[in-house]
Amino acid sequence: MINIPRGTQDILPSETKKWRYIEAKLDELMELYNYEEIRTPIFESTELFARGVGDSTDVVQKEMYTFKDKGDRSITLRPEGTAAVVRSYIENKMQGLPNQPIKLYYNGPMFRYERKQKGRYRQFTQFGVEAIGAENPSIDAEILAMVMHIYQSFGLKHLKLVINSIGDIDSRKEYNEALVKHFEPVIGDFCKDCQARLHTNPMRILDCKIDKDKESVKTAPRITEYLNANSKTYFEEVKQHLNDLDIEYEEDPNLVRGLDYYTHTAFELMIDNPNYEGAITTLCGGGRYNGLLELLDGPSQTGIGFALSIERLLMALEEEGIELDVDHDFDLFIVTMGQEADRYAVKLLNDLRQNGVKADKDYMERKVKGQMKQADRLNAKYTVVIGDQELAEKNINVKNMETGESERIDLNELVNYFRN
Ligand code: HAM
Repeated sequence: MINIPRGTQDILPSETKKWRYIEAKLDELMELYNYEEIRTPIFESTELFARGVGDSTDVVQKEMYTFKDKGDRSITLRPEGTAAVVRSYIENKMQGLPNQPIKLYYNGPMFRYERKQKGRYRQFTQFGVEAIGAENPSIDAEILAMVMHIYQSFGLKHLKLVINSIGDIDSRKEYNEALVKHFEPVIGDFCKDCQARLHTNPMRILDCKIDKDKESVKTAPRITEYLNANSKTYFEEVKQHLNDLDIEYEEDPNLVRGLDYYTHTAFELMIDNPNYEGAITTLCGGGRYNGLLELLDGPSQTGIGFALSIERLLMALEEEGIELDVDHDFDLFIVTMGQEADRYAVKLLNDLRQNGVKADKDYMERKVKGQMKQADRLNAKYTVVIGDQELAEKNINVKNMETGESERIDLNELVNYFRN
């Protein structure tokens, strides 16, 4: 037997119902906020992520599914959506479009070679949002309000929004220098990854899962001390908007995020339930990326966005015991008795479906009782029983399964009855 690859999952019909419900709800929410859908390829040039996400990040160094195609090009299955959306924005010259900022969303599979855990997959589905072309604290606030709105609209309550400012490019540079100075004397005690990151990406040391409890991590300089006036003002204005919107948040100066492109606002939404036992508590993450477009040879526009995975959203729903209202009603189940009736039902079903009626019949030669059970399993609102007598009399009982009431109608009128 050939098994499913590690870290992937089959989403079976009982689950796809939930997925479709969630995705439909997200589409609806995006209309409220005036964001439009973009679909980019599942694979891109490796260079896009190496440059965009950052050469020294875990995602690029350890987690990408990279291969050479038959034309000897290095190709990577996308590990995230932002770099690809920005590539598309630049390639399609969206900065020239009249309706600015460009507000986009996407939903699709992403791939990271990570250790499998509850809530962590090698193929997962990211729903993400990017607003490109405006540097304005009110759009940062819009994105944060949207994140909260999304989770709350599914009924989730145990949520904690954590925010930080990584500052503008100048502040970040100064901060990185301070971190190098701080960690240089003690770096010998750190893991190999941290040692390698000291000069390429010192902020990542703050995020290291192995070394996170070291004293020098706790006493490391804080980004807040290195924010220049411009960065401070920007952050204050974002927070002012959040206060105006009554959005609760916690500030965490160690929140640095795993991807390199962030500047200014950075955030994560976490599960906040003391009884939650899983290792993974981050539901969603994002932030502002002011240098990314130029880094990818684009215009000097800035953007902000976030992504969540549907897998972790489902995990949070399960955790809070929230059932989604996914049961679809089904119109009609035709119970047949005998070969003639079954033949008649084939034609009848076809007419019903052509007229927009959700209908089905038995294919397993079940007895009448078994067919009724099947109608129940389908949640059919109505049933009809067709046998020799109904065919001879050209009359049929339509039974309302909810009320138990029946109505006798002309067999030839059945399609009309349901169409109306
Ligand atoms: P990220 O923090 O790497 O950011 O991922 C965002 C979200 O994707 C996570 O919070 C989590 O819900 C989900 N996720 C990530 N890896 C996995 C996994 N292995 N299994 C299941 N879910 C996962 C980004 O990807 C940025 N592109 C977000 C962004 C958009 N920033 C600005 N715009």
